[in-house]
Amino acid sequence: MCGIVGYIGNKQALPILIGGLRRLEYRGYDSAGVAIIKIQDTDSKIQMIESVKAVGKIDMLADKVKDKKLDGTVGIAHTRWATHGGVIEQNAHPHFGCDGKLVIVHNGIIENYRELKEKMKDHKFVSETDTEVLAHLIESHYDGDLKLAVETALSHVRGTYGLVVMHADHPEELIAARLGSPLVIGMGENEHYIASDATPMLAYTKKVMFLEDGEIAEIKKDGVKIYNLKDELITKHIEEIEWNDEQAQKQGYENFMLKEIHDQPTVFEDAIRGRVNLEEGTAHLGGLNMTDDEMRSIERIVLIACGTASYAAMVGKYAFERLAGIPTEVDYASEFRYRDPIITDKTLVFAISQSGETADTLAAVREAKRKGAFVRGIVNVVGSTIARETDGGTYIHAGPELAVASTKAYTNMVAIMILYAIQFGRLKRVTLATGQRLITALLEIPEKMNKVLEQNDKIKDLAQKYKDCKDMMFLGRGINYPVALEGSLKLKEISYIHAEAYPGGEMKHGPIALLSPEFPTFAIMVKDQLYEKMRSNIEEVKARKSPIILLATEGDNCAKELAEDVIYVPDTMELLEPLLNTLPLQLFAYHTAVMLGRDVDRPRNLAKSVTVE
Ligand code: G6P
Repeated sequence: MCGIVGYIGNKQALPILIGGLRRLEYRGYDSAGVAIIKIQDTDSKIQMIESVKAVGKIDMLADKVKDKKLDGTVGIAHTRWATHGGVIEQNAHPHFGCDGKLVIVHNGIIENYRELKEKMKDHKFVSETDTEVLAHLIESHYDGDLKLAVETALSHVRGTYGLVVMHADHPEELIAARLGSPLVIGMGENEHYIASDATPMLAYTKKVMFLEDGEIAEIKKDGVKIYNLKDELITKHIEEIEWNDEQAQKQGYENFMLKEIHDQPTVFEDAIRGRVNLEEGTAHLGGLNMTDDEMRSIERIVLIACGTASYAAMVGKYAFERLAGIPTEVDYASEFRYRDPIITDKTLVFAISQSGETADTLAAVREAKRKGAFVRGIVNVVGSTIARETDGGTYIHAGPELAVASTKAYTNMVAIMILYAIQFGRLKRVTLATGQRLITALLEIPEKMNKVLEQNDKIKDLAQKYKDCKDMMFLGRGINYPVALEGSLKLKEISYIHAEAYPGGEMKHGPIALLSPEFPTFAIMVKDQLYEKMRSNIEEVKARKSPIILLATEGDNCAKELAEDVIYVPDTMELLEPLLNTLPLQLFAYHTAVMLGRDVDRPRNLAKSVTVE
């Protein structure tokens, strides 16, 4: 989740680049940098590239460039959300090759960067990033033709990229390439823009061209040429963007929550990219800062969180216990801190938080540290207090979540906990084959999420049908019980409809008394080891004439016999089910709330980040 901006034209590049970075700051914000081609000597036409980088928000960079005379009409800039290497100035983009003439900004991950680096022994590297390796690789293939050097270098690369390259000897062009990370070219009069999305250029032009995977662009002041994988020149359609600034941030969705629900396949990929290894059937989350022996010594895991994060943690409990065999508890942070929890030096505490600022979770972190536990964070907001106060952990890479009710952060929290459970599990009892099956299934999740999201209209129809009910019951069993809890929370938070969630088997012990034709039930009955048990529970609900919406596995023909309304989800491994099953529940809550006229992004009485006890 980094952001790229580039400009070539007749205007001063610096204000355009800094302004553009501000528009992209939502994508990542731990450091930023800019590089501009400067005509040093007009007569001899010697050009050099000047670059400034700063750790922190764009304001820090803006402050730093104030004193420098960064004149020039061609430049590139970048805002970073760290993946490889810590948050230090050297790791911020743009990155140079050895001779200071070639510079690059890059989004994505170069998976084979270590191998490539090994082969370039005569090059001097100053950062820990995969991007710098790419700069040197292009430099090593450069022989006067910048586009050819980029193409040749990319043929040796495994991974994903959206990149822009600039060279002091070619002040007339920028070369851009895309594979997996978006790039948009803005078409002006004798000037062109390039960025990770259209927001940085909207103030100047609404005419854009979207680069597709495998395409390379040669961007000059007076024209843009696009080449495909076979190096054939292609003609691309220029599109007109009709969004204003705010709409652009919402990327055409009506509000942030709907956008964030639809972001899930992409940000899930961001969460697992570079962190799974299919060959070894495992995951590597480097930020854990624990040796293998320390990991093996852990006897108990405690997951502390609030709200949606606590339901993500409940899914994590299943994963840690099943894969790693480590007894795992989930505690509301607000309870944990006052419960005098039992902590030993063999306890690993994970604090899970989107904002990284929740006061209850932070206080629980401090309490756990005081008692000597290993304390790690699973956090979205980079540089947040919990991220800083824990002794390591992992960013979930969900990108900025602006709607108050959490959606994509939940999914990525679950993803990271599953990765941790695999990593711990492989050190203990998970076989290579099981590890590989899990990684394969994880890699299939984004496509399956898309299939779920394609049912948006059908779910909207169901919301229409049920929107006037006063209460709703959510049921699930096993790993789908936390999914039911999250579905019920989403409905409460944004539609203000009263909702309850129970494990299917617990219904008969009390809550079943509530059911009636006016009290519908949303039940999760997917094909896993508890399928038959859940089926019986739903029969009990049906006998009480509660109208039923059923979430069932594709191809389950029995589902229709049980309920009039069925939403089908693709099959996956049981531990991964929440990654798919939560999405229809989010959409159901969303559409219900919109139909009731609620402010879905800013529901009453709630705050995105609760920094008070
Ligand atoms: C608030 C929000 C919830 C969120 C919870 C925990 O109550 O309204 O949506 O789940 O805080 O937030 P965190 O940032 O720690 O994940």
